[in-house]
Amino acid sequence: MTQDELKKAVGQAAVDELLPHLERNSIIGVGTGSTANCFIDALAAHRHDFEGAVASSEATAQRLRQHGIEVFDLNHVAGLDYYIDGADEANHHLELIKGGGAALTREKIVAAVARTFICIADESKLVNTLGEFPLPVEVIPMARSHVARQIVRLGGDPVYREGCVTDNGNVILDIHNMQITDPRGLEAELNAIVGVVCNGLFAARPADLLLLGTRDGVRRLARS
Ligand code: 5RP
Repeated sequence: MTQDELKKAVGQAAVDELLPHLERNSIIGVGTGSTANCFIDALAAHRHDFEGAVASSEATAQRLRQHGIEVFDLNHVAGLDYYIDGADEANHHLELIKGGGAALTREKIVAAVARTFICIADESKLVNTLGEFPLPVEVIPMARSHVARQIVRLGGDPVYREGCVTDNGNVILDIHNMQITDPRGLEAELNAIVGVVCNGLFAARPADLLLLGTRDGVRRLARS
């Protein structure tokens, strides 16, 4: 199976997981990226079985609308039962690195609102220690150099993501060469730097369920 086929399999598995819980007034939180797109494409066949979705990016909102799925502003929604999204890395505690697609801040907001966060990923994303994938940090543009210096003090190598402007009008620094042994601690430390909007560690609010596409089928890893 190719990586794309594994992504399609987990996208479909997430729809299968959701279907028994969907009601006509359900609103689903939907993430960003190629795996989330597979989920959206599989979900489209059931668009008449639920009310709509909250999107974690403009790109996702556009794809949902193209499928005829109504997109709601999060401020107009009382709550979300489910948030479905991909990840750049996941460890066995279902702590994640996200933000490869620069949507980390909105993703973290939607994940915070959702009662259940289902992460979907192919098997290449499961790691023992987070940090091989460069950790994205969304930064207010004028604070870029200040934040970069603080990241160096924490032991990381920040790299400015050239040409990338987030949906919120900010920039991204990707932190290279950090073995992340304390994801919750580092998430809090990075958030405390003035000028940081958000970082791509999802450890304070990890996933609840990881659907992992493997060559032997979709594995279910639940948070203990
Ligand atoms: C976007 C994300 C994505 O979930 C992450 O980058 C994984 O993307 P893909 O499914 O394309 O591998 O966090 O900001």
